[in-house]
Amino acid sequence: MSESTEMRRPASQVPPHELPASLREAGLGNWIREPLDDAVDQRRRIIMPPAAAVMGTPASAYQGALLAEARHPDTVFMMGDDPALPVMPERPTLKDFFELRFSKIARTHLLQSAKVARENGLDEKVIIACLLHDVAIAGLLSANHGYWGAQMVGPYVDDEIAWAIQKHEALRYFPDESVGYSYPQAYIDYFGPGYRPPEYIRREAEAARRHRWYMTSRLVTINDIYSFDPNAVVDYSEFEDLVGRHFRQPREGLGFDGSPVAHMWRTMIWPHNFL
Ligand SMILES: [Fe+2]
Ligand SMILES: [Fe+2]
Repeated sequence: MSESTEMRRPASQVPPHELPASLREAGLGNWIREPLDDAVDQRRRIIMPPAAAVMGTPASAYQGALLAEARHPDTVFMMGDDPALPVMPERPTLKDFFELRFSKIARTHLLQSAKVARENGLDEKVIIACLLHDVAIAGLLSANHGYWGAQMVGPYVDDEIAWAIQKHEALRYFPDESVGYSYPQAYIDYFGPGYRPPEYIRREAEAARRHRWYMTSRLVTINDIYSFDPNAVVDYSEFEDLVGRHFRQPREGLGFDGSPVAHMWRTMIWPHNFL
């Protein structure tokens, strides 16, 4: 294999002889990156899977083996730009996260929800809440995504928009037939017909129902698209004006404005930093 071919080896392929059998058997080859076209240095890089991703799974038992692997002279832990991800601009905007970080299916889901809300003639606050309601799933974490998402956008949108995003987490489990919201069939498929949300979610939903912004959050659940269509085509540019009016982009870029949530955006820029 010529040196240049070696350099272009796909990220998930690691020469078997360089990887201890225990790591290979655990399927952890995916966490070790060959140098690709990394211009910073030519060492292989290990990604330590985040605790939240591996807790309770067999992969959590291999932290020690990954640490040992990092002691090889040609190996370091991943820090900074991951060569397998597109480089983000110095001052990233919301659009950059949509286009360079969010998964295709999540991006499409958000754009589709916003498009439906717009077609339904809803207020711009509802449309932007729909556009942002699952940003946490798209780029950070799925569990508690309404709460994470509300925090991520909190400094940049009106309180009502962040509130609606937070409360959609609880409200989506509870039908409100008076406004045409039924329990989604998708949740019966995902969680089984007997799923009962935990008590804290029930309390959150009840309190949200009595709140003056209830309908804003309820409309997010109504315009949420529960059937994912990865082939749907909606372009971010359709919402650029709306984002301009309702999302206060920080001049320094998301992740670098010193806000209490800047670290969340930085985590999406460099999701694999070891520490
Ligand atoms: Fe959601
Ligand atoms: Fe959603």
